[in-house]
Amino acid sequence: MTRLQATKNDPARFSKRRTPAIRNLGPDAARFRDEAWAGLAAPHKTLPCKYFYDASGSALFERICDLPEYYPTRTELAILEAHADEMGACLGSRCLLIEFGSGSSRKTRLLLDRLREPAGYVPIDISPAALAASVRTLHAAYPDLEVLPLCADYGDSLELPHSRIEPARRAVFFPGSTIGNFTPPDAQRFLARMARIAGPRGGILIGVDLRKAAAVLEAAYDDRAGVTAAFNRNLLARLNQEVGADFDLDRFRHRAVWYPERSRIEMHLVSTEEQEVDVAGRRFHFAAGESIHTENSYKYSPDGFAELAAAAGLTVSRVWMDERRWFSVQWLTRTDSASP
Ligand code: AVI
Repeated sequence: MTRLQATKNDPARFSKRRTPAIRNLGPDAARFRDEAWAGLAAPHKTLPCKYFYDASGSALFERICDLPEYYPTRTELAILEAHADEMGACLGSRCLLIEFGSGSSRKTRLLLDRLREPAGYVPIDISPAALAASVRTLHAAYPDLEVLPLCADYGDSLELPHSRIEPARRAVFFPGSTIGNFTPPDAQRFLARMARIAGPRGGILIGVDLRKAAAVLEAAYDDRAGVTAAFNRNLLARLNQEVGADFDLDRFRHRAVWYPERSRIEMHLVSTEEQEVDVAGRRFHFAAGESIHTENSYKYSPDGFAELAAAAGLTVSRVWMDERRWFSVQWLTRTDSASP
């Protein structure tokens, strides 16, 4: 349930002088261990991709975004730069902007620069380090903007902080095609949840990566410099450090494959040999070549995504794409609301 009225005791209350305080509701080590145990005990081993993003993982992800092969970030940025005025007009004045998985908030600044009298900005991220760094930068760049950071797993139900200024509308910003990291049924549920948070007059501004040639996709998820491989293996390093596991990172190979019939890139960590690994007192056996499935990244057609949005009670009101039609930014509004 989300509460929408501000309270006087809210620790994230607005202050122009102090950097906003961060509420940390992220998953702890016990939950990480339990989810890792469950995933590694499954017939096809998995680990949840949300655990990529500790301080090192977030830093590696920032490096991925700058890789020549990883087209999504620069393509989305170019779309945002070209159409930020129109997007700002969709968001309207006195908008409370809520961002899921805000990371460095680098793309958000393009919107913040266009917003008329924004009611506030709520960056939500699972990584306290990434959130703290972006909040410091934002606070310096926009001293008059009320920033209400929340460190949380946005898959959990959240109690949103409340802005000092009463918003005219709430908009959820979900860039980067992170929606592609959900299975379609989970993506539909998540879209419906964002629609509830946005409310009847609100909307969702979302980045959606599109289907394209296999070679382009596989290079984007298996770059020559090996940064994506390091990002993938960081999951095992985190288990070693935070949960008490003894993964030998050199005995797991990064693999990224495009499955057109599933419309997704899969990332795996493949055991190079038969081995046993201890994870917080439980032993897991790996056959040579057995993999841990660590991430899905779904790619949509524009029509396919419109169908998914419709199933979540949303209408695609605007779509902006690059010339190659590799990536899209879409403004979704609630089908049950009258105005776009
Ligand atoms: C965050 N997410 C949208 C990225 C993606 O493209 O699926 C994560 C990523 N995985 C490997 N490279 C980037």
